[in-house]
Amino acid sequence: MRVKDQMENIGIEEEKGSDWGKSLPVPSVQELVRNDPRSVPENYIQHQQDRPDVSDMASSSFHIPIIDFALLVKGDGDETRKLDLACKDWGFFQIINHGVAEDVLLKMKAAIAAFFGLPLEEKNKYAQAGNDFQGYGQQYVVSEEQKLDWCDMVFLITFPHEIRNLKYWPDTIPGFRDAVESYSKEAWKVANEICTNISLLMGMDKDGLKRFYGKTKQAMRMNYYPPCSRPDLVLGINPHSDPDIITLLLQDDEVPGLQIRHKDKWILVKPIRNAIVVNVGDVLEILSNGVYKSVEHRAITNETKARVSLATIKIPYDELEIGPMECTVDDRQPRMYRNIKYLDYVRYTLGRKMEGKAHIDNILKIESS
Ligand code: OGA
Ligand code: NI
Repeated sequence: MRVKDQMENIGIEEEKGSDWGKSLPVPSVQELVRNDPRSVPENYIQHQQDRPDVSDMASSSFHIPIIDFALLVKGDGDETRKLDLACKDWGFFQIINHGVAEDVLLKMKAAIAAFFGLPLEEKNKYAQAGNDFQGYGQQYVVSEEQKLDWCDMVFLITFPHEIRNLKYWPDTIPGFRDAVESYSKEAWKVANEICTNISLLMGMDKDGLKRFYGKTKQAMRMNYYPPCSRPDLVLGINPHSDPDIITLLLQDDEVPGLQIRHKDKWILVKPIRNAIVVNVGDVLEILSNGVYKSVEHRAITNETKARVSLATIKIPYDELEIGPMECTVDDRQPRMYRNIKYLDYVRYTLGRKMEGKAHIDNILKIESS
């Protein structure tokens, strides 16, 4: 959808995300594979230069930083410095000892797997309706020509309570709603704790970021990547950066797939059992005046195993004006981005196909003279 069209959709159910713009409908990839496991339709086949090298899937030698959350919470100096470097150099890290019970993680992953295990007509009861961004369907599909993700997804707003839209929360799967409730609560705490530490690292008191962005929302993107007979031709999710404050990603412990761009190479983020992957989003990059990096990432597929993941995102309210915070701008570090209302930023990013980090650079970066 063109940005102009999206701009004309303001106003309806403002807080439910329905005004974020809509994706074009595309068929379920899971269904496509079920009907013909060998088929890879043309609009999923990436251009030559964008195809992943899946031959060295297991052997990439880099590891993203691992942060012991329990130490971070205690204010441990080394761990805090590790967090600072991780956000500057990688934009990504994994947290261990995060205190979220294994049972909560397992039930959450099982709930997603159970949803995608439903017959298509059951899943379609939760399909994105009308202009809504929530529900079972797709995001970022804006033109007939673009290369599609080898992925089906469900998007739900989880916090605050009053803007949940329960019609998208499957009630026929025993335990689904409870699993989302328990995990989202824990993820909320973890995300806030990380933001507290980042506030301190940015030279503010622990509530510095929170004072700036005020109330926030939380949403979940549940991803299901079916196996693909030609993983060398497709991408599970096209390269993008997340248009949020931070993302917590729960990955499949058994099936790797997440790759991040680091020093111009794609690095596989090897799953660590029960760890949570965390990444800096565009909003935090902007607020920190580019000190912390919102890094491009994508997912690859494999021939044999479906993969499930869950991105839990922390986002500001639509009206928030985002721009570099005062404490980040001085003579040595001039302002790198212009200000923009969050809603306009999200609409801009969602109204375009995912193109790595092009969005933040295209509309916000101030050219240095
Ligand atoms: C996302 C995302 C990566 C993955 O949902 O924003 O980047 O590994 N997912 O599923
Ligand atoms: Ni992402």
